[in-house]
Amino acid sequence: MTARIIDGKQVAADMRAELKDEVARLKQQAIVPGLGVILVGEDPASQSYVTAKERACEDIGLYSDDNRLPADTSQEDLMALVEKMNKDPKINGILVQLPLPKGLNEADVLLAIDPAKDVDGFHPMNVGKMVVGEKTFLPCTPHGVIQLLIRSGVKLEGAEVAIVGRSNIVGKPLANMLIQKNATGNATVTVCHTRTKNLAEHTKRADIVIVAAGRPNTVTADMVKDGVVVIDVGVNRVEDATKKSGYRLVGDVDFEAVKEKASFITPVPGGVGPMTITMLLYNTVESAKRAAGL
Ligand code: GUN
Repeated sequence: MTARIIDGKQVAADMRAELKDEVARLKQQAIVPGLGVILVGEDPASQSYVTAKERACEDIGLYSDDNRLPADTSQEDLMALVEKMNKDPKINGILVQLPLPKGLNEADVLLAIDPAKDVDGFHPMNVGKMVVGEKTFLPCTPHGVIQLLIRSGVKLEGAEVAIVGRSNIVGKPLANMLIQKNATGNATVTVCHTRTKNLAEHTKRADIVIVAAGRPNTVTADMVKDGVVVIDVGVNRVEDATKKSGYRLVGDVDFEAVKEKASFITPVPGGVGPMTITMLLYNTVESAKRAAGL
């Protein structure tokens, strides 16, 4: 079997077109959704993610307040900026790009964000709401993964899902979302991680394998069954002298070999990445509607 490639760029473009229309309608009611973005330090991957987020805001007509701070920014200054954004009525969503440079306390920063503006869904109050199944902002990457699956016609109910990776940003929230008793859940989930004894045993059993491990070739063709659905969340830079930049992007999955066995697979780039940003835009628009009582 050769897999159907799930085109994240296309799914994201469709959703962004819908959001753009919605933003235009809100503008007629004098509502302009706004996103406050904070990037601390010069990590190149974070810089490119943040630039993409800012561009996406502009594309669909959102206001964005962009703040790039030096790596030696103090905790106090960072907290003060978050507080300022909490009070700013033009800002409906606050995004602090992670990871923060060493020396800054990530947990304290996330806790300082007004939960009503926490469009990343990382505030412990929103994480708690997600776990108990209350309406809240869903974290963008896991929500994007679920949208890709649903919009590709993949059935989640009763599916065996193996998630590889247990980060707070992807693995843990995704596992929680997939076990909820609702239309985007009802799956049976196994979460694998660096201390899992026999990774292949779990991935081979799975109908859906979702990989967010941060390491190329974490999942290879011998580790999956025929007809598996594979979602690759990984973004890794590997050296490539044929590229002007000197590197190319690859995921966590051996794409070329696994696509010959899978029924569906996401590419890197062009799979999950565009969806993460789209769900951020979605949450920001939702937040503006809630703030306006709509
Ligand atoms: N770093 C990697 N992914 C994300 C994300 O979705 N949001 C934020 N704020 N930082 C990240």
